[in-house]
Formats: sequence, structure tokens, C-alpha cells
Amino acid sequence: MHNLFILGSPRVNGNSETMAKTVANGLMQEPGNSVEFIYLNPLNIKPCQACGSCSSTGDCIIEDDMSDLYQKTDDADRLFFVSPIYFYALSAQIKSYVDRCQARWSRKYLLGQRYRQGENRTGYLLSCASTSGDKLFEGSILAIKCLCDTLDIEYGNPLLIRNVESRKALQNLPDELANCEQFGVKIASGQPLS
Ligand SMILES: Cc1cc2nc3c(=O)[nH]c(=O)nc-3n(C[C@H](O)[C@H](O)[C@H](O)COP(=O)(O)O)c2cc1C
Repeated sequence: MHNLFILGSPRVNGNSETMAKTVANGLMQEPGNSVEFIYLNPLNIKPCQACGSCSSTGDCIIEDDMSDLYQKTDDADRLFFVSPIYFYALSAQIKSYVDRCQARWSRKYLLGQRYRQGENRTGYLLSCASTSGDKLFEGSILAIKCLCDTLDIEYGNPLLIRNVESRKALQNLPDELANCEQFGVKIASGQPLS
């Protein structure tokens, strides 16, 4: 199974990247898994321009780093959407990626083009935030649910961590790290996520 992590934080070695790497360690404990990390921050991914071109072609006319990511997204068996919470939402880096998937929405809903249906592909939100409010992750969960529907993949239980602010906060929380690793192990071994 190929596991693609799409990371939306600008912080190198920050909390969401630590989540991703630790989940990946768990996945790799099961044979037959490969992992790939896409760091969005250094990439050039222009926001969707709502030009409507994809409505008739299914393809985005913008030529930038997103061009390669469409294929990588299609080819992955599992997708991990990794983002810090910014103002109760996804970071701008990953939101640009999500919005550019409008071209896939057009394929599915306007052009009737489906891809890899019935293959049990799944998408997971991995997210963290510095505070602890009940509704902290709601906006991001809705966005990723909508993205998974667009990409024709299942929406899997998310992994969400509250109360981590400084860059290395999560690295000092062994119980949370163990939980992240178990999240990966459970996914790779087909155990239910609680
Ligand atoms: C621009 C910005 C907006 C943020 N907004 C929120 C927020 O609305 N709620 C919250 O709990 N934390 C917020 N945070 C804190 C981050 O979510 C938190 O520090 C997180 O651990 C960062 O993850 P990272 O290290 O992967 O970048 C914000 C941080 C920044 C830089």
C-alpha cells in the first residue's frame, strides 16, 4: 500500500510533521507499506482561480507544482492530509491544494468520470492545535470530508491533538506519540480506529 502524506505546515519539524512521521513509523511496522511525504510550503501551488475550465475538461489549466500532485493523489492507496489549525481551519498551504482538487470534483460530478472506485482507498486528517476548544477541528474535518468525497475515497477517523503550541511540544509528549504510532499500526493492520 502506498501512503501519501500531504503536509501543510510551514514549520519544519513542527507538531503536525511529528504526527505524520510517527504515524508513518507505525504504518511501516506492517509489511507491504511505502510512505511518501509532500511538503507543500516550498511548492508553488496557486489558489484556484474559479475560471471554470475544469468544468468542461476535468483538467486544471494552471501549470504549477499541483500538476504532479494530481497524479500522486490518484496513485496513492491511502492519503494523509496533515495540517496545523489556523484560525479554526486548515493552513493556507493545504487549502490551496484542496481547492485545486475542484478539477477532480468536475470530473466526478460534471463529467461522470470516476477513478479507482471500489478499491477501498481512504483519506485521513492529521491535525493539531494549541488550544482545546470542542469545535477546534470542525472546519477542517468538514473540508477533508468534502475532499474525500471529491476524490472518491473513504473518510477515515481523524487523528487530532490539542494543546500543542511550540514547535517541539509534541516531541515531549510520549503518550501522544505512542498514540500516533498506534494509529499507523492499526491502519496498516486493518484494526478499527477508536
Ligand atoms: C496563523 C496561526 C493561526 C493559528 N490559529 C490557531 C487556532 O485557531 N486555534 C488553535 O488552537 N491554535 C492555532 N494556532 C496554533 C497552531 O495550530 C499550533 O501551534 C500547532 O501546533 C502548529 O502546528 P505545526 O507545528 O505543525 O505548525 C495558530 C498558529 C498560527 C501560526
